[in-house]
Amino acid sequence: MSEYLERMKKKAQAFEGRGDLLILGIESSCDETACAVLRGKEILSNKIASQIEIHKRFGGVVPEIASRNHVLAIDNLVKEALDEAGVRQEELDAIGVTYGAGLLGALLVGESYAKAFAYALDKPLYAVNHIRGHIAVNYVASPDLEPPFVCLIASGGHTAVALAKGYDDIVLLGTTQDDACGEAFDKVARVLGLPYPGGPQIQALAEKGRPTVKLPHPFKGVDTLDFSFSGIKTAVINYANTVKMRGEELPAADMACSFQELVTDIMAENLVRAAHAYNCNKVVIAGGVGANIRLRAKVSELAQKHSLTACYPPIRLCTDNGVMIAAQAACMIKAGRLPADYDLDADAGVKP
Ligand code: KG4
Ligand code: ZN
Repeated sequence: MSEYLERMKKKAQAFEGRGDLLILGIESSCDETACAVLRGKEILSNKIASQIEIHKRFGGVVPEIASRNHVLAIDNLVKEALDEAGVRQEELDAIGVTYGAGLLGALLVGESYAKAFAYALDKPLYAVNHIRGHIAVNYVASPDLEPPFVCLIASGGHTAVALAKGYDDIVLLGTTQDDACGEAFDKVARVLGLPYPGGPQIQALAEKGRPTVKLPHPFKGVDTLDFSFSGIKTAVINYANTVKMRGEELPAADMACSFQELVTDIMAENLVRAAHAYNCNKVVIAGGVGANIRLRAKVSELAQKHSLTACYPPIRLCTDNGVMIAAQAACMIKAGRLPADYDLDADAGVKP
């Protein structure tokens, strides 16, 4: 263990029992540079520099362009987050940064910045798993929430149900066998001629449609906690091609509605099935697709029917942000995890 880490470990030991830690969270895993300051569970600032407009013209995120724009944004954004919070950098207790999962080049920007920042300030740095950050933001959004609970992770890169046994103790119960749900939303949106990111676009279009198109349920009648979305996506593509060959018009709104209804049914049902299987009375939603209003409505409805408590973050905390990274750093501190050493590396493919 380096001398630096020995020193950080001692500083971190002094955090025990404190519920008012000032933590800066830094996120740069994909197309959003984000920084936030948390005091305990209070959000003092939450700054996001979104690159959506830049990547839109390519129909998805271009990794190299994402990295370069993180470099341009990050320094100002950290300063803005501290200013808005009314916190001087020396007052921070700790820094959390995403080390994975995500785009390697993009991750390295946030991580290099955070390492230099923490080292210069002599503050403990926590290497945050982005996916766990999506779960942890629920502790801020619902301050009374405590583990254990069963959680649906529904983002652009991951889809899973997990058991949160402790603040930093996540056990996967079922995962997608192919595409992530957000990826499926984005790909189907492209087939329907909608811009990136597809999730909010499909949601808006679906409001004008009805679920008239029959799409295949991947695990109909099978008792599993796993997911699969590529068959549904392929069915949408095949349907669109057939309609085009016939010279007919694609019923885009009905397709958006049919797709959204099926995918949100699958996710809500799996979450409740997991709660029953693991005897949990709390269900939680995490990740960008958690912003979907139909998913939220279905989880609420099912939770009420089965006497479960349902928690989900406000929409602005579902997609990538710095609050979730600071929140997960707080969970790691609570769980007694070691801060990172200065040889911390990024891990693009880390699992939840
Ligand atoms: O969690 P997130 O911000 O990034 C990852 O960690 O992957 O999730 C982004 C994903 C995108 O695929 C986007 O289309 C989807 O979340 N998304 C939605 C909605 N808002 C964002 N999907 C469905 N309905 C929404 N309202
Ligand atoms: Zn995310």
